[in-house]
Amino acid sequence: MVLYALLLCSVFFARSVYGFLDKQPHYVKTCMIKQPREIFLNCSTHAVQGLFNEIPKGVPEIGLQVLDPLEVDHINILQGGGGPVTVNASLSNVKVLGFGNTRIVFNSVDPKTYDFYTKLALPRLRIDGLYELLGRILVIPLRGKGICWFEAKNLEINVKSDVVMQKHDGFQFFHVTKVHVKFSIGGLKLHMSNLFDGIKALEDSTNAYLNANWRPVAESLNPILSKTIEDIMLDILQKVFDNIPANFFLGDLDESAGENVEEQ
Ligand SMILES: *[C@@H]1O[C@H](CO)[C@@H](O)[C@H](O)[C@H]1NC(C)=O
Ligand SMILES: *[C@@H]1O[C@H](CO)[C@@H](O)[C@H](O)[C@H]1NC(C)=O
Repeated sequence: MVLYALLLCSVFFARSVYGFLDKQPHYVKTCMIKQPREIFLNCSTHAVQGLFNEIPKGVPEIGLQVLDPLEVDHINILQGGGGPVTVNASLSNVKVLGFGNTRIVFNSVDPKTYDFYTKLALPRLRIDGLYELLGRILVIPLRGKGICWFEAKNLEINVKSDVVMQKHDGFQFFHVTKVHVKFSIGGLKLHMSNLFDGIKALEDSTNAYLNANWRPVAESLNPILSKTIEDIMLDILQKVFDNIPANFFLGDLDESAGENVEEQ
């Protein structure tokens, strides 16, 4: 009996740390997926834009931190030998600026699987942090530890979000299980201080070389950065869609869709 009470309590607390929203927030606009495709695409693109205008400010009720600037304690980057990049790097005290200006180019939803397809455009994304790096990019061996910044412009990001419909507490939810990111950038500037133990001439020439060759540098880092963006996006999308009922987004959702995940 005592054990049962404890279990109930822990379930209750697990749920109520943030708790899902049982009333439709003003920044969620409802679309009808059974409308003609062009009408639905226009509606869902505007709806997701409305969401992205709001969520970068942070939504404490659903445990979503501020996204602009986005603060990340630590990012590990490890890519083994073979390709043009062999790096073992980490970033800490990371601050990412720019998600507040996300433009949604389009958003569609698969009417059978409910997977989302989203194309986003960001005019500018800047990352500041402390880096630690050992490896090789293009032909340059790199070693260093210090402050760094990266500034990318005109990013285009294509995201496919795999969705499993779930039901609990009388609501349906889009549970995002995985995101697949492909992206391109229209420019990159970067600076890493204290490369090669602070040998200034080597540090300056390496930074100059990386900036002058930003396109192959960006291409070679693309797989690593895609994975990093996927991890960050999965966390954000799960907080949003695990906590805001699917019916608020799609007003004509098939009520039988979704597996029951009610806790006993
Ligand atoms: C697209 O949706 C927006 C916002 O709901 C609306 O103002 C606009 O008229 C729509 N455009 C078309 C072509 O339906
Ligand atoms: C990567 O760097 C970390 C920290 O310097 C180190 O612990 C780890 O062993 C390195 N991994 C590889 C594969 O070199």
